[in-house]
Amino acid sequence: MTYSPLTPSGKGALITDRKVTDFSVAEIRALIARYEWLAFKQHPVTIDDLIPYLGQFGKLTENDRRQGHVLKIDASKTDQGEVLLGQGFMPLHHDGALMGNAIDLVGIFCVEYKEVTGGGRTFVSDIDGAIKDVPAETLRILREHGIEGRPVDRYYTAAADKWHAIPGFAEVAGKTYLNVGFPFRPGEQASWMLRIPGIDDDRCAAMFEEMRKIFMSDRYCYFHEWSEGDLLLIDNRRTLHGREAFRGKRALANLQVLA
Ligand SMILES: [Fe+2]
Repeated sequence: MTYSPLTPSGKGALITDRKVTDFSVAEIRALIARYEWLAFKQHPVTIDDLIPYLGQFGKLTENDRRQGHVLKIDASKTDQGEVLLGQGFMPLHHDGALMGNAIDLVGIFCVEYKEVTGGGRTFVSDIDGAIKDVPAETLRILREHGIEGRPVDRYYTAAADKWHAIPGFAEVAGKTYLNVGFPFRPGEQASWMLRIPGIDDDRCAAMFEEMRKIFMSDRYCYFHEWSEGDLLLIDNRRTLHGREAFRGKRALANLQVLA
């Protein structure tokens, strides 16, 4: 099966000819290995179909933040200041970093999408491609220092009163991938805080700003325009993903296959 890549760098595949549940596990594994993320459109499935289907790929995350296996991201927590569960911008990240979970696949399913303005797209970046444009000195610092993250939203299971070390790179299937998330920028409400130990705040911000421009450029980043029933299936460790801020009725369901 070949599809046209979603980024000029050759990653991502838009699948409109069959519904996800018509693919075998081996077919999806092969497509994820090749494209890193898959965007299914035009053949809606239900969340009740997806839970047992994705359960074939591994154990699904279940914790007290979820209803069963499902994390509802429906903007309902906006008033309580939870950025992740609200409408604010979410910078590039891997799922699971402040939850103590190694997550293999992330499934994001669109339950409702009405009257959305001002953004609301989920974006996925080809970090293996993008890293080639990042200055070697920045990569050296990330490799040697790693990063430290600290929760702001109550959502995360990691303690909010201390910094948590995160390695700058991690190995996936014999190859090394950038393992860091990105910080929030001035003016954005933060779901987490992030720093590079031993590097001052201004330098850290400048390094991430330079990387952000590369990772979110059209060459490496795909921006998914949601329709109800769409599914994004993402290799969590070989890509980074995030969300544009928005206004309106946008309800997504997040499912995670543990590594
Ligand atoms: Fe996420």
